[in-house]
Amino acid sequence: MSLLNNFAMPKKLIIANWKMLPETLGEAQGILEAVDEHLRILPSNISLVVCPPFVFIEEVSKMLQTTELGQRAVLGAQDIALADGAALTGEVSGAQLEKLGVRYVIIGHSERRWKLGESDAVVNEKLVRALADGLTPIVCIGERERDDQFKDTLRNQLEATFANISELDRQRCIIAYEPVWAISTNPGARPDTPENALESIAIIRAFIPDAPVLYGGSVNLDNAQSFLSTNGIDGVLVGGASVRTQEFLKILTIASAL
Ligand code: PGA
Repeated sequence: MSLLNNFAMPKKLIIANWKMLPETLGEAQGILEAVDEHLRILPSNISLVVCPPFVFIEEVSKMLQTTELGQRAVLGAQDIALADGAALTGEVSGAQLEKLGVRYVIIGHSERRWKLGESDAVVNEKLVRALADGLTPIVCIGERERDDQFKDTLRNQLEATFANISELDRQRCIIAYEPVWAISTNPGARPDTPENALESIAIIRAFIPDAPVLYGGSVNLDNAQSFLSTNGIDGVLVGGASVRTQEFLKILTIASAL
């Protein structure tokens, strides 16, 4: 069942995408212990999905099962292989992750699309796989440049990403609108504005009316309030700031105060 369905709406969803950080398990545990302690003093109105790198998935899963954090946060992965049980050296399957307690998976992140050459067809296959494995996909959609064509770019990306996915399955997804030019690690990155993001989100909602839509791209302490308090934005996908522990705790405070 989707996390959003587990809680009374309206509620903002926060996805923490740790990317390839931190370097050690000790640091990963430190982040989660701090989040655990902080969530205990906040009202229980935040939906949080933590997406650590694969190497920490099993330990984070154990932590979620043995601490109170497990009542407040759900485990996600950053990617899955495009097939289960196949010979795919170096890959990790959705079936393996599901058995470790993973419930959500990021599909089609722009770093995979543009830095690792993941095509729309591969993203589509992974989406099919995630749904078959019972994982809730967090599907990333976003244009590389905000040029005159960006609306068509988004529509084409949506069509290709969701090709042959039924209406019912589309509604099982969470969509993260992540303009590539706004992702903090890209040269010259700047956060989008909620107003601009809503223009793109309108295109996404026209395509999939019932899925929650999040904003991602340089979400930080300075702009979290503006995105989280915007009607029509159901939450945020936080990359870099999700491993800057003190900043992330403050973002959680902002989300819980809405
Ligand atoms: P960022 O990353 O918050 O560091 O821009 C977001 C993402 O890449 O998902």
